[in-house]
Amino acid sequence: MRLIICEDKSTASKYIADYLIDRIKSFAPTPEKPFVLGLPTGSSPENVYKSLVAAHKRGEISFRNVITFNMDEYVGIPREHPESYHSFMYRHFFSQVDVDPANINILNGNAEDLEEECIAYEEKIKRAGGIELFLGGIGPDGHIAFNEPGSSLRSRTRVKTLAYDTIIANSRFFDNDLNKVPKMALTVGVQTVMDAREVVIIITGPHKALALQKCIEGGVNHMWTLSSLQMHPHAMIVVDEDATLEL
Ligand code: GLP
Repeated sequence: MRLIICEDKSTASKYIADYLIDRIKSFAPTPEKPFVLGLPTGSSPENVYKSLVAAHKRGEISFRNVITFNMDEYVGIPREHPESYHSFMYRHFFSQVDVDPANINILNGNAEDLEEECIAYEEKIKRAGGIELFLGGIGPDGHIAFNEPGSSLRSRTRVKTLAYDTIIANSRFFDNDLNKVPKMALTVGVQTVMDAREVVIIITGPHKALALQKCIEGGVNHMWTLSSLQMHPHAMIVVDEDATLEL
């Protein structure tokens, strides 16, 4: 596992955007051999998306032959809700690049049968040939996607009840009103992320410093689910200096 320390959040975001552009370009995706990209939401990747969109507008990168799979989605808020991960992704990325809408995959948190939705998602990833690169962030409790503390490190896409800490952390997107924050989500599992051929994680800010320390200096531990990356053959964590405060 590589740890890349950048001066600040914007340098870290630029580093990741440049890295992704290089990876996709050198892969040279075609309709027969698309690049399968796992994507996160959250404030951490926002600047990465900004840089990718800017590079796309300059004609430096096309997402035409890229298939995307998002990590997670809330259960029980409409897809059109401004804070649904579906809305987030269209607002920050999909509506501004040339990705084929047919190649966009986001879990449906309003599916009639949520378990079936999760099983079908795993099958879809498999049919696409597996994920080439999974980009992710973490919560202050070290969760990856919505794999809250205590999640099995072998978990796959499933319904997850959010930890109280996550509900508090995400309330900033819901008028700081805990009652408005969805209490459940659909999320890819830790094993789903681990199955990707490469994983790239962005961690910034002092509020993530403890999580970074636990995840890379502690042992592999289901209470800090990102720590499973220690076992991944091709993982990179890109951080800003603030996130290294506990190392
Ligand atoms: C949510 C998402 C995670 C994300 C985390 C951190 O919990 N499910 O995938 O990593 O938020 O978000 P932020 O980047 O806003 O701190």
